[in-house]
Amino acid sequence: MQLSNPPGRPTLADTLRQRRQRLAERVQFPVALWSGRSASRNFPANVHPFRASSHFLYFAGLPIANAAVRLEAGRLELFMDAATAADRLWHGEATGRDQVAAAIGAAAAYPLSHLADRLDGAATIPVMETATRQQQAAWLKRELPAAKALQAIDQQLASAIVELRLIHDELAIAEMRRAAAVTVKAHRAGMQATLGTTTEAEIRAAMEAVITAHNMSTAYSSIVTVQGEVLHNNAYDHAIQPGDLLLADVGAETESGWASDVTRSWPATGRFSPTQRDIYDLVLAAHDACIQAAQPGIEYRDLHLTAAQVLAAGLVDLDILRGTVEQLVEQDAHALFFPHGIGHLLGLDVHDMEDLGDLAGYAAGRSRSERFGLGYLRLDRPLQAGMVVTIEPGFYQVPALLHDPERRRQYQDQVNWERLAQFADLRGIRIEDDVLITPTGAEILTQDLPTAADQIEALVSGD
Ligand code: GLY
Ligand code: MN
Ligand code: MN
Repeated sequence: MQLSNPPGRPTLADTLRQRRQRLAERVQFPVALWSGRSASRNFPANVHPFRASSHFLYFAGLPIANAAVRLEAGRLELFMDAATAADRLWHGEATGRDQVAAAIGAAAAYPLSHLADRLDGAATIPVMETATRQQQAAWLKRELPAAKALQAIDQQLASAIVELRLIHDELAIAEMRRAAAVTVKAHRAGMQATLGTTTEAEIRAAMEAVITAHNMSTAYSSIVTVQGEVLHNNAYDHAIQPGDLLLADVGAETESGWASDVTRSWPATGRFSPTQRDIYDLVLAAHDACIQAAQPGIEYRDLHLTAAQVLAAGLVDLDILRGTVEQLVEQDAHALFFPHGIGHLLGLDVHDMEDLGDLAGYAAGRSRSERFGLGYLRLDRPLQAGMVVTIEPGFYQVPALLHDPERRRQYQDQVNWERLAQFADLRGIRIEDDVLITPTGAEILTQDLPTAADQIEALVSGD
């Protein structure tokens, strides 16, 4: 566990003090947040990797298992047990409670069980992991429904936390820059490993090796696939054939939980076919147009519609779609090929704060659209300086959409199916970067990873 502060960065204790001060300005009741613990596999000591709850991490800063913090009026109390003799035997000497307390600026520190008597009138956010959620409910002496249906006091807390976590402070941005830098290296390694490899698994291994070597983990299950049309494809067993396109959506997460989320698509041979390149350049045009337009005050939904318009216009130029751009987007014809949203919030989690449903993603009074082309939009707010969002347009040929008889009927006049058949050598392309909204525009945190087709080809082929 990293307790020292790298030079030139705000200290952890100072940052945490500011975060809880800002929370105290928003809620007048005590707050208890649990970190959670590892779930066991087949015997208690064989556990899945531990990942602390992000709400805990935001205020406690360090990934401590089976711990909690109590926050009230800007004061932090830490609750965690000292290591037992058995813990020390099997896991070695752990950082002690007092050391952790000093690093995070706790006013007091106690064994975990002491928290049970300090919960009168306290709000919490339920953790995802079941055993800890049961402890939360038992000690708070009330039901804890899933975080999407919170009780009133917890709902107020969640809204306050969303306000804080939407706008990242200096330490958070520094951490996301670290995650982004390692992710960029991982993608370069994946591209450079491609010519010598025959399976998706080998490319995944080359990418995750970089992340592991930096003592980071993946922020989500990596997608490394020749079947890019399967949006969340977590199989890695396909052989790579000449002519395939690889789609790799891989992101590192720092030790303290800050995420990155990057996708690149590249040709297995190091050369795009003409049809692959046409569509790649079109997806890149949508990506660039969105980032160009991103700045405070701009509606994220409008960025999504910008991507839809660029894609629709390009598909008309390629004679795949027919009609006016305005009508095609209104009819959601673009969504046949771009069925997801343009991106999401990024922070301590990929899809940051989606454990709270749409509370973070959707501004008050807004809710998901029923439209095919808008329903998967995960963020519908005006952008503000300090937000980090992904921009990730794509083009996919999803059989479940394109072979659906009803959709084919619906879009029979808008899609030139014969022309589309000439693009059969590409299944899925996505280009995804992490973008910090600045006071005057946007900064791409992952800009050191090229996007231009020529540069991608050069990285893969080693030219
Ligand atoms: N890596 C998941 C996503 O891009 O949303
Ligand atoms: Mn993403
Ligand atoms: Mn992604």
